[in-house]
Amino acid sequence: MDLTLKIWRQKDAKSKGRFVTYPVKNISPNCSFLEMLDILNEQLIQKNEEPIAFDHDCREGICGTCSLYINGRPHGPDDAVTTCQLHMRKFRDGDTIIVEPWRARPFPVIKDLLVDRSAFDKIIQNGGYISVNTGGAAEANNILISKEWADLAMDAAACIGCGACVAACKNASAMLFVSAKVSQFALLPQGKVEAKERVKTMVATMDELGFGNCTNTYACEAECPKLISRSNIARMNREFFCAKVY
Ligand code: SF4
Ligand code: FES
Repeated sequence: MDLTLKIWRQKDAKSKGRFVTYPVKNISPNCSFLEMLDILNEQLIQKNEEPIAFDHDCREGICGTCSLYINGRPHGPDDAVTTCQLHMRKFRDGDTIIVEPWRARPFPVIKDLLVDRSAFDKIIQNGGYISVNTGGAAEANNILISKEWADLAMDAAACIGCGACVAACKNASAMLFVSAKVSQFALLPQGKVEAKERVKTMVATMDELGFGNCTNTYACEAECPKLISRSNIARMNREFFCAKVY
């Protein structure tokens, strides 16, 4: 495949960015999107040009670090996949592809396609855990949990913290992410002990860091690579209301 890439280049957080056009040739349809960028970077390095900075780690859809806005969609045109799992066969020979970083004030651009997502870490640091006394592992069957609740908690725990929900939202809302993290604990007995404090501090941190509110557009759910359900947002709102009132 021969393609034209229009890629956001930005020297550092303070510099102004701009799109730069790069032609790439003979790309296999079986290449992943990141492998295609690797090929382009090798060509840039051979020409003594600065390679394009982009985030990635596992390349298996697990770590959530690959964060590219491709042709106007977080993680590109395929559904329920991360950028690292997107393949070039989803595009056509001759296509022009526009590649941008996540666009949201709480995720400032560091360089090119790299953004600082430490705001998510701060939210997790403020309640996204359970406190346990160290010691021997408890017998797994001591606390029985219904299949329905275990499944819901597991579905919420599938969130990989990629930030696509924020990038997709016109309000840069982090509510799908935070609600998944609140829900994965709130649904289980082990998480209920600190549930009230957790939801209050995580929501407060989310607000302090500049994420917007949910206005029920559901772009977050539509673009989430892990199919996190918006019903988690409703659960978080209920948890928050109860924690404030009772
Ligand atoms: S809810 Fe989905 S889109 Fe948002 S951070 Fe988690 S996995 Fe990514
Ligand atoms: S590189 Fe880890 S999810 Fe894409």
